[in-house]
Amino acid sequence: MGSCRIAFCLVVVLSLLPDSGGAQQVKSARMLDLLIRDYTFESYGRKFIRTGMVHSVSLPQNLSGIRADMVKYRCGSLRRHGARLKEFRLAAGVTVTPCADRVMVIRQFLEQNWSTVYYSNYDLSDYQLISPVLGLLAYNAGSPSEIGISAGEIPITVNFSSPLTEALAGQNQRPGIVPLCAIFGSDGKLTLSNMVTLSPYLCLASGSGHFGLVMELPPVQAGRKESAWKVAIGSSIGTALGIVLLGLLLVALFVKAKKRSKREEMERRAYEEEALQVSMVGNMRAPMAATTRTVPGIEHGYTPSSP
Ligand SMILES: *[C@@H]1O[C@H](CO)[C@@H](O)[C@H](O)[C@H]1NC(C)=O
Ligand SMILES: *[C@@H]1O[C@H](CO)[C@@H](O)[C@H](O)[C@H]1NC(C)=O
Ligand SMILES: *[C@@H]1O[C@H](CO)[C@@H](O)[C@H](O)[C@H]1NC(C)=O
Repeated sequence: MGSCRIAFCLVVVLSLLPDSGGAQQVKSARMLDLLIRDYTFESYGRKFIRTGMVHSVSLPQNLSGIRADMVKYRCGSLRRHGARLKEFRLAAGVTVTPCADRVMVIRQFLEQNWSTVYYSNYDLSDYQLISPVLGLLAYNAGSPSEIGISAGEIPITVNFSSPLTEALAGQNQRPGIVPLCAIFGSDGKLTLSNMVTLSPYLCLASGSGHFGLVMELPPVQAGRKESAWKVAIGSSIGTALGIVLLGLLLVALFVKAKKRSKREEMERRAYEEEALQVSMVGNMRAPMAATTRTVPGIEHGYTPSSP
């Protein structure tokens, strides 16, 4: 009953949101699970489905980029025989709790453009998701209540080989860097572990949940986030200093130009005054100059005498 009420609230919340594309609207991974569950039950909840047969779930346009498949099992037969569902391999000994007569298992495949949901719900700041996110969830086929899957002695395996090949097609890979298996816990915790040695892109899981492959970001990229504000502050201080210095320079140039024009003015005036004085003095001295001119005269007072 409780989950039915959640579904009702979900519908109300979603109908209140503006209808603009899927990935931007669904913010939580949990909400996405509920949506996919609802579409799966809408299609296959009441239908008679042979156990062990995999069926793909058709999802609406606004969930494009997400693939979902479902299969029904009998609880006891699942434990006895295990199962294989696309990338997931459940070995014999696997248990579902509570053990419903019929179990509906959903496998989710979230393309890269839906990984934002996981980036915003888990601390992936130092990592980059390089694979689609794969989900394995189980519900009571009679009512849409979630039930847990737990591996027995042999863990569940998640084979990322073909999803990764698909995701990396046409992308430049960084050779030599080994991805890590990521488990996105329902408690909001991210758990990382190594891939199975000698089996490329194979991860182990102890139960149902969401899985992906991540790569550690190189330190430059990882550090970029926290040093971004330093760069921003540094550059704005730099800009402000630059503006101040430019202002000072302009003021200095202006003052210098003004000083120079003043000096030139003074020099010009001084020159004019000097020129005026010279000409005045010249005029006054002109007659004097005439007097100072040496006049030929009797120098020795010698006068020739006549006998
Ligand atoms: C997706 O579209 C369906 C109608 O096709 C609508 O009922 C639903 O609320 C939409 N969901 C999201 C997450 O946008
Ligand atoms: C996600 O990508 C697929 C193609 O890879 C595209 O068809 C789909 O529209 C995209 N979905 C969103 C919500 O961006
Ligand atoms: C994983 O999948 C690839 C491609 O589908 C396959 O070749 C490989 O054998 C699988 N690995 C295991 C351990 O099943």
